[in-house]
Amino acid sequence: VVVTPPAEKLLGFTAVSKSLADTVVVPAGYTASVLYAMGDPLTASTPAFKNDGTDTDHENRAGDQHDGMEFFPLSSLGAASTTANDRGLLAMNHEATIDEKLSAFFLHPNGGTMSLPRPAGEVDKEMALHGLSVVEVRRTGAKWETLKDSSFNRRVHQQTEIEISGPVRGNALVVTKYSNNGTKIRGTLNNCGTGKTPWNTYLSGEENWSGYFTRASTDDAARGDKSVVSLKRYGRDAGAASRHGWETGGVEDKYQRWNLGRKGASLDGSDDYRNEMNGMGYIVEMDAYDKTRAIKKRTALGRYAHESAAFGKVVVGQPLAVYMGDDSRNEYIFKYVSTALWTAADATPLDRIATGDKYLDNGKLYVAKFLADGTGQWIELSIANPLIAAYAAYKFADQADVLVNARLAGDAVGATRMDRPEWCAVNPVNGEIYFTLTNNSNRRVEPSGASQAAPDAANPRVYTDMKGSTAQVGNPNGHIIRVKEGAAGSAATSFRWDVYLFGAEAAAAAATVNLSGLSADQDFSSPDGLAFSAATGICWFQTDDGAYTDVTNCMMLAGVPGQVGDGKKVTLSHPRANGTSLNVDTYVGLAATPDTLKRFLVGPVSSEITGIAETPDGKALFVNIQHPGESTASANVGDPSKYTSQWPSNAGYGAGKRPRSATIVITKNDGGRIGT
Ligand code: FEO
Ligand code: CA
Ligand code: CA
Ligand code: CA
Repeated sequence: VVVTPPAEKLLGFTAVSKSLADTVVVPAGYTASVLYAMGDPLTASTPAFKNDGTDTDHENRAGDQHDGMEFFPLSSLGAASTTANDRGLLAMNHEATIDEKLSAFFLHPNGGTMSLPRPAGEVDKEMALHGLSVVEVRRTGAKWETLKDSSFNRRVHQQTEIEISGPVRGNALVVTKYSNNGTKIRGTLNNCGTGKTPWNTYLSGEENWSGYFTRASTDDAARGDKSVVSLKRYGRDAGAASRHGWETGGVEDKYQRWNLGRKGASLDGSDDYRNEMNGMGYIVEMDAYDKTRAIKKRTALGRYAHESAAFGKVVVGQPLAVYMGDDSRNEYIFKYVSTALWTAADATPLDRIATGDKYLDNGKLYVAKFLADGTGQWIELSIANPLIAAYAAYKFADQADVLVNARLAGDAVGATRMDRPEWCAVNPVNGEIYFTLTNNSNRRVEPSGASQAAPDAANPRVYTDMKGSTAQVGNPNGHIIRVKEGAAGSAATSFRWDVYLFGAEAAAAAATVNLSGLSADQDFSSPDGLAFSAATGICWFQTDDGAYTDVTNCMMLAGVPGQVGDGKKVTLSHPRANGTSLNVDTYVGLAATPDTLKRFLVGPVSSEITGIAETPDGKALFVNIQHPGESTASANVGDPSKYTSQWPSNAGYGAGKRPRSATIVITKNDGGRIGT
């Protein structure tokens, strides 16, 4: 019997309501199933996960805090494909662990050690749970499953050797005890957003790696050189504690490397860890189809708190552009432009990593400056730029130094300080580039200190009417900005921009906060994950929110956006203490309607919704539920009744009641495409 599906309408589903339930909510007619959770075995010989803190062999299990994710299709014969829909590899980031007072408490039997020194066994487990994984998934009928014995399955963790590639390779800034010629590093850390190259490899962004390191309070004086400026700019003040105290796990190098102080006095410098942190902070490329190939840190794309990496429209004979954000308060947006021009044959190359070498190791890095008239400029971060060469606060030695210290180079050229750039994605319809700006608690009408910034056209909101507060709260709900490149396309150095959507609560003041006119079926706060479906063109975005979680758990929305310039100019008038006003012109896209924006999913308690991947036909959508129950107090690790979430065990998945990060797969019950 051939059933003719009903005519497809984008956003034809009924919007889901905001929810505080400890479950995944999707629209009527859709099914969300748990597929792959933290601790799941990735080899046939790894025991089932008991989920009581006693599990071992984490180097062969799914890591923790699933974040960005991409789908790599496999043909029925197990070959790399760009079109297969029933079999493939999910490659994903394992960003972090739920932790409090040093210990990742759900991962240890009684919550782990909450003081220094940390036991080696706990540190080993936590280091193994950070990194990347690749898992094979297959569809049988309507059901998707992982294959625990697939030869494609792979784990990358803090002991995995990774190559340093591009202009920083071999530079003195990355010479370490581990690699005395500056070509290698162990591990990739705090991996957040992702990307997929036009040659079918996986890109991962290293985000909050800085916090895992420590250095002694005497380290500034011990160094006495410009490296102190760099360390401070990347958030490592002397004497600041590390996130987990991994450096206290033992005398072995794998623990000591997290302490950036010079450890001893050997004349050959072999116990010198001062450059260790310069090996973190990059976009990392992995061939998900071939675990024999080295993973590479693509240093030409710059070092900062990376989120996703999105390729601009790919045009034969033109350079490739990669768009990226630096997710920290008042940090920058970047673009990398390859020297090599795109060749169609490179879409299906024999050697994918060599293709990465061709396009990602040689190019120019730019930083964005957004102007008040709705245009903007890409400013090249080159050692030849006089503003960089003559920068007083930090003397750059060479182009590798500019890349390792891309934040300082952005400072030197006066780039625009943004409201925390999270993911970016490119609209396949018109090539416009979207960036989520998740929120900014350090935006102030009258900034106090260098950590705060005044509102500007691209980051225009500072408001005071959240939850009855009269204090300025910056921009707690975030917005999504978009860029249309100039005539030169990927190589353009000028652009136009506007704001696609401003996050807001539906009841917020329309003139100052809810500028996109969001209704109760659409309102959201703190956009983070972002991807366009190649199948439907839907703009999916996800939230990671602290400002709206009293009303709703985090969510995913589906948008059908217009284009840069389709909306209007708005002037926001911010009162100053002296009675005058700071007026900021901004540009907001078309107001949301039920046909252009709908809430599609709400997650369990204390989870972030993140990671978006789909099968090429758009009929299976993979989404990550990150850190459900993270608001649980570590003291309650022994009492499941006090867990703030018991997902996914309460959805029938796996042993134990401890909450776990997990991948879900969403299908439409009538077999249709997701989001219709
Ligand atoms: Fe890992 Fe910026 O979120
Ligand atoms: Ca993020
Ligand atoms: Ca976030
Ligand atoms: Ca998170």
